[in-house]
Amino acid sequence: MSTPSPVRFLTGITTTGTPHLGNYVGAIRPTVQASRRAGTENFYFLADYHALIKCDEPARIQRSTLEIAACWIASGLDPDKVFFYRQSDVPEIPELTWLLTCVTGKGLLNRAHAYKAALDRNAAAGADPDTDVTAGLFMYPVLMAADIIMFNAHKVPVGRDQVQHIEMARDMAASFNHLYGEHFALPEAVIDESVALLPGLDGRKMSKSYDNTIALFAPPAQIRKQIAGIVTDSRAPGEPKETEGSALFQIYQAFASDEETAALRKAYAEGIAWGDAKQLLFERIDREITPMRERYQALVANPAEVEAILRTGAEKARTRATPFMAELRHAVGLRNLAAQAGPAAKDKAAKATLPVFKQYREADGKFYFKLLDADGSLLLQSEGFDSGREPGQIIAMLKKQDPDALARIAAWWRSDRDAASVMKLLAEAGN
Ligand code: TRP
Repeated sequence: MSTPSPVRFLTGITTTGTPHLGNYVGAIRPTVQASRRAGTENFYFLADYHALIKCDEPARIQRSTLEIAACWIASGLDPDKVFFYRQSDVPEIPELTWLLTCVTGKGLLNRAHAYKAALDRNAAAGADPDTDVTAGLFMYPVLMAADIIMFNAHKVPVGRDQVQHIEMARDMAASFNHLYGEHFALPEAVIDESVALLPGLDGRKMSKSYDNTIALFAPPAQIRKQIAGIVTDSRAPGEPKETEGSALFQIYQAFASDEETAALRKAYAEGIAWGDAKQLLFERIDREITPMRERYQALVANPAEVEAILRTGAEKARTRATPFMAELRHAVGLRNLAAQAGPAAKDKAAKATLPVFKQYREADGKFYFKLLDADGSLLLQSEGFDSGREPGQIIAMLKKQDPDALARIAAWWRSDRDAASVMKLLAEAGN
């Protein structure tokens, strides 16, 4: 029986702005809640390479990275329980981007919505189609695919506008698998229907690009002022109000319990004054945000602490990315020449002569692994472990020829072949 493997969730936030209520309700809060599910692994990151595509203000990117990271942590994300990192701290991501670039049709990228929208804007303005279109914008979906499949993510929670990018990531993963063997899981977008798009001050989707946002951790007086600016109709106090299409009501609902929402619905029907409804909304938001504000401000005032958390997170992410990238480099032919396997046609045969690890579970409920020579003879037989993770960790250490791991297997070794040289062979083959 093989070890049940966790479902991997992954999502990123582009670091171009100050976190607002829309980011909190749509991305931050759901990922914090989701990260507590058992049987999952969660990868959350700051997409600062993506930020470069739309922002050429270095100080803004730096500030936004700090604020979004602080916001995630202040909202309850536990960096020890998830993989929490900054995209640009994982050099394997741009490296994989190039491998994917080489298996991605230009035609696929021509169809990306964001790129097409830029062309359409130019056409409407009578400009050259390529005006202000960077190669970065064109390549955006490839970088995003690398983010996702670098960690073999299964599920990618995103807003509707990003679904096409996940489909493209699937296409790229499938092309790579087709050419070089099964390396990648095919990711799927997850759209949480219960996370309604939060309307902004003017009733359109809350978005920095519409300049209609309510800042998340601004001083209460400023939040109160912004809430006062939410567009309402002109019904007077005492006149019944419509909840349908009321941005104020929808924002309230995103923070309130079912009972609280029902109470506001009733108050609308009974003709609550807009000013009073705004006060209720302010109080409800303030109640949720205030306990987090202090932690947020402490983090933003101490960027070194956030920096340290992100660096630790990147190290953890790279325990996955580095060995996987070695496997991918080998797969495409970026190889150690000293481990030359002979002419290309013999690659398959050469692979078949390598020993293989097998992980399994026995009737005693414990987890085991063994190493079999290509002819099926037993080289190593591990002891039983209580957790299914341990065999995987030891195998990864062995492939890196970690001396501690090599010492550990000495008692389990069952062959005349020398353990260290077998491990070396596996490591060089990027097995
Ligand atoms: N492009 C996403 C956005 O703007 C952010 C992002 C970058 C992302 N890489 C990702 C989201 C990978 C999910 C998975 O919203």
